[in-house]
Order: sequence, then structure tokens, then C-alpha cells
Amino acid sequence: MTNIVSYEERIKSFNWEIAEQELNYQTGQVINIGWYCSDRICHLGKADKPGLIWEGSSGIEKRYTYNDIRLKSNTIAQFLQDLGIRPEERVCLFMDKIPELYIGFLGILKTGAIAQPLFSAFGDESLFIRLDNARTTAIITQKKHAPKVRKILGKMPYLKHLILVDAEPGKPLGEREVALNMDEAENVEHFQCFPTKAESPSVLHYTSGTTGQPKGVKHVHYSLISQYLTSKWVLDLREEDIYWCTADPGWVTGTSYGIIGAFSNGVTQCVLDAGFSAESWYRFIEKHRISMWYSAPTAIRSLMKAGEEVIRKYDLSSLRHLASVGEPLNSEAVIWSERVFGRPFLDTYWQTETGSIMISNYPGMKIKPGSMGKPFPGITATVIHPETYQPYDEPGRIGLIALKPGWPSMMRAYWNNEETYRKKFRNGWYLPGDRSSIDSEGYFWFVGRDDDVINTGGHLVSPFEVESALLEHPAVAESAVVSKPDFVNMEVVKAFVTLKPGFFPSSDLDLDIMNFVRKKLSPLAMPQEIEFIDNLPKTRSGKIMRRILHAKEWGEEIGDTSTLEND
Ligand code: WTA
Repeated sequence: MTNIVSYEERIKSFNWEIAEQELNYQTGQVINIGWYCSDRICHLGKADKPGLIWEGSSGIEKRYTYNDIRLKSNTIAQFLQDLGIRPEERVCLFMDKIPELYIGFLGILKTGAIAQPLFSAFGDESLFIRLDNARTTAIITQKKHAPKVRKILGKMPYLKHLILVDAEPGKPLGEREVALNMDEAENVEHFQCFPTKAESPSVLHYTSGTTGQPKGVKHVHYSLISQYLTSKWVLDLREEDIYWCTADPGWVTGTSYGIIGAFSNGVTQCVLDAGFSAESWYRFIEKHRISMWYSAPTAIRSLMKAGEEVIRKYDLSSLRHLASVGEPLNSEAVIWSERVFGRPFLDTYWQTETGSIMISNYPGMKIKPGSMGKPFPGITATVIHPETYQPYDEPGRIGLIALKPGWPSMMRAYWNNEETYRKKFRNGWYLPGDRSSIDSEGYFWFVGRDDDVINTGGHLVSPFEVESALLEHPAVAESAVVSKPDFVNMEVVKAFVTLKPGFFPSSDLDLDIMNFVRKKLSPLAMPQEIEFIDNLPKTRSGKIMRRILHAKEWGEEIGDTSTLEND
């Protein structure tokens, strides 16, 4: 029997109180995610159950029971408190997928401070923009990433502490630097969690938007209610499960489901902190007997590409339930997984702002490969006309996805950006910025984004952020960034560039510009292709017509070019 039992029955009589009761939470009481994900699980008699099994790239393994997670998150919390970190201050986590990232996240929340995870592959510019916007007080990082922080330290007087989790003992530390070795520090048996309430801020995730400035999405401790229940009903997490969420906690899937959902449900979760290869992934599943696997279409397509021969080398019979998020999951991938793993990947749709799964396929429900499924119980979702903002009466019409605000994990604000936040609401609906249709049976079919943001391998990249970075390169006069199709990543970043006088196209320059963006922003934002052109298509008013370049890449009709300057 699946946890959700019956989707049809659940939607008939749904109330978030179901989760509140299971978590023993009553309105107005204290609710602290850090406590729920560690102390509470120990109180439930699972102190000795493995909570986190971690494997690094060199094959070394570390194991933490729920009691270890409780003690070590206490230790980190106490350390931060002793440093003077106050509730609601932002503490950034800037690390690879190491245990300190998972446990540090809980430690920050226990102090009442706000956890601000940032992807460890970010370059100094990406990092600076996000730390500066959040006025972050402290950053927890590793030796290998510290140089990127040191480079921008001078511009950040508000950043008081650079906390190194792997500093070498006896080696002098630099300005504002302090060492915290989680595994060697003396355990703090009791830490009084800060009495956060439902609306106390918990997590600040940055997501790329349609402008150069990324948006800080503010979540609150009450988000636990949604994250706990969706993990239970959609990911179907059960007592005996060995769970693997492949997402990096630098992004929302890695925190909502790689930390909060997993630990609040008290399951054993495994983390592989190593680069992707089909062999290593299958070996990981076999070794740890993974039963629930939450991944992403790009990874699935990469596995498809690696072929079936390699699958036969491993015993993957432990897999019980698979789910996917982040980009459109094409029907071929669903059918393929059913054939090779004996289980289809169930598509789930949501975003940083929604904090938890909104539209999904459920265990036990009829799956239509290629469809995102139906709204989670308690979520009112529809498709509305892009101009009138009215829901369509008949099925099959393509419009904007619209969600009725009010579920527990909905973002509460964009950090210091009230205006952009307000624009996300129309006619009483929250608009995630995606297009879809709904068929006659109520299944949602994703069509595309409603903006220029590029979704490459499940990571959102703002073309404007890349363009701004390109303009800082000495050779670049103008640039326009669009997506181009790619089998594995669905889309990748492509840049059109015009050069300043005295610079000429060459493969060296090409590489130099790519590297420049990679270092400044991240490997994800780096253009996979640069095309040097003499003039960018512009409107008569001088605006770059990205639409034309995009259409060319995708082999689409170019459409109306009557406002074009150089036609
Ligand atoms: C896209 C990731 C198609 C969508 C959790 C959304 C999807 C954005 C799906 C959020 C899906 C996410 N099918 N597209 N199942 N899931 N997306 O904020 O455009 O990093 O708005 O959150 O990814 O990306 P974000």
C-alpha cells in the first residue's frame, strides 16, 4: 500500500492539518525545522538509525545516525551562537555535497538564523551578487572554495565570518577566518533551539530571473508542513527506505527534499558527492540498496545515452520508486525507465518559490508518460489566459500555469524586492511563469517557460546575467544570449558576440571568453557555443531582438520582424 493510499480520495477531503497532526504541531506553537529533522526523530526512538550515508569521490564513506545528526547540528548551532550570529541573520552554506552542508543547514536553523545555500561551483561574481543582496553575516565553506570568498571579502564589510570546515590544524587563518571541524569538535549534548514560529524565516534560496539580478526567495519554518507531506505522499518515503536525492542543496530540490523532506520523515538517505557517470551511479544504487530515487531528466537522459549494457552489470532490484524534477520529463524517458528499471520515473513539477511539489504523478495513479500529472491535494492549480488571467473553460488550451496561494511552503517574499514579488500575482493567482495545458482528465502537459530564462540541465540561467558578464570581457562589444537545443541538457547557453575594434574571432578568444564566464559565474552559465557576428539584430529603438536569434537556433518561424533595425 502506498502512503497516499488513493489520490482521488485524498483530494476529496484534504486539509494541511493532516501533516500538522502527524508532526504534533499546533497553530501558534514553536516550529523549528532543525529540531524536527534531528531531535524529534531521536525522540521517536530512531536515535541509532542511520540518517546520512555519505560517499566522497575518493570512495571514502561517512555515516551519521540521527543522534549524530542531532549532536553535530547542535555543535554547529552552538558554535554560530558563540560567534554572535543572531536570529534572522543570513548564514551562507558554500560547500560541495559534504556532510557539513546537510548538518550545517540544520545547525543554522536551530539558531533561528536563515540558511542561504549557494552552489559551490559559483564563481566570485555570482557569489558576490547573492551575498551582497542578502547582506550575509557569515559563510561556511571549504578550503578549496575559500579563495573565491577572499577575493570579494573587501567589498563585503557586513560579512563578519568566513568559517572553514576543513582548516588545517595549526595553520594560521586569514582575516575574519575561523575554523570549525564538525567531526572533531566536542559534541554539544543540549542546544536550546531558537523558538521559531510558523512565519519565522528559514531558508533563502537564490533563483535566476528575467533580469540580471537573481532573486532571493524567502521561505519560513512552516514550509516543513508541505515538505514533510509531499515527501511522504509523492516520494512515498517509508520507514525502511534507503533514499537518494541526487540534487545539490545549493538548489531547492537539494534542501526541500534532500534535507528537510528526508530527515523530517526519518528515513536513511545516501549522498554521492562525486561527478556523474552511469557506472558510478548504478554502483551506488547497488551498494546501498537504494529504494527511492529522486533525480532529474538530464541525469536520466545521460543514463539513457550510456546504454543498457552497463545496467545489466549491476543489481538494481532494490529500486522501488523513482521520481524526477526540474525540467520536462519526456515520455521516452518514462517508458525507458519502466523497461530498464521496471519502474517509471514519476514527473513532479514545482519551483524554488513554491518550496514543495505542486503538480505531480502519484504512486498508484494512472501515469500518462510526458505529463506532469495533477495538483497535489490542497493545491488549486489551473491554466489561465495570458492576458485576461481567466481560467480556460475547455481542456487542451495552452496558457499560464496558475496556483491559488496559501500552501505552507509558498515563498513569503523576494528578498528586498517587493515589486517583483507582487508582479508574480494576478487576479488572485500566483504565476510560476510556465506554460501548460490541461487535458480532459485533468492532467497537466508542460509547454515551456513564459520568459527568457534558460533551463539547462535543470538549472535556471538568466541570459541577462551571462550578457552582463560577457560585457566585462575586454574583447566583447555587445552580446545576446539565448538557448540552443541539446539532447542531454534539453537546452544549453549560446552567446552571440560582436567584438570591439582590434579584436578578431579565433578559437583562442572563444575559449578565453568561455572561461571568463565560467570563472565569474559558473560552469552552468558558461556558453557552450560562441558565435561571433558583425551586428546583432536590433529593434529600431536599439533593443536586441533575442527572439530572432532564439528562433534561428530552434529552427522556428522567425515571426514579425517589422520593428527590426537592420532588415
Ligand atoms: C522548470 C526546481 C517541466 C519550470 C524544483 C520551473 C519543470 C522551473 C519541471 C523551476 C517539470 C521544474 N517539467 N519543467 N516537471 N519542474 N520545471 O526554481 O520552468 O530551480 O518554473 O526549481 O523549472 O526551477 P527551480
